[in-house]
Amino acid sequence: MRHISYTSMANGLSAEEFATILDHARDWNRQNEIHGAIAFDGRMITQILEGPKLKVDALYLRILGDPRHTGVVLQSRADIKESQFEGFGLTRMTPSDLYMIALSIVEKHGSGDSSAEPLVRRLS
Ligand SMILES: Cc1cc2nc3c(=O)[nH]c(=O)nc-3n(C[C@H](O)[C@H](O)[C@H](O)COP(=O)(O)O)c2cc1C
Repeated sequence: MRHISYTSMANGLSAEEFATILDHARDWNRQNEIHGAIAFDGRMITQILEGPKLKVDALYLRILGDPRHTGVVLQSRADIKESQFEGFGLTRMTPSDLYMIALSIVEKHGSGDSSAEPLVRRLS
């Protein structure tokens, strides 16, 4: 299973536009067994995605190219045994909640890309 977390800056995203992204993301992620958390404070976004390796990598690459935000910085990418968000889905959280989670991620996985597999765009 793959874990990815990143931060970015929203491109003038309103609360309504963010809610639209979340509606789509909740459905798609649930159907594709991807769990995680997202925080948006009006400017910054932090997201954690955990699930099947290729699906999480491909989703991250799609999100990376999404013009609704900018300055995407990969915080952590690791191979994990199980998601800490199992049964909890994609949930909107406050930045301080996410900060606490980010601390536990660094303790658990370290920061940066520690996956054994390179992050590459795959055909299909
Ligand atoms: C901050 C942010 C977070 C997103 N998170 C997700 C997500 O968790 N799951 C998802 O399916 N799409 C998410 N999206 C939307 C994707 O970037 C993309 O629009 C979606 O996967 C559809 O891609 P497609 O139009 O290439 O099919 C997010 C977009 C933004 C801006």
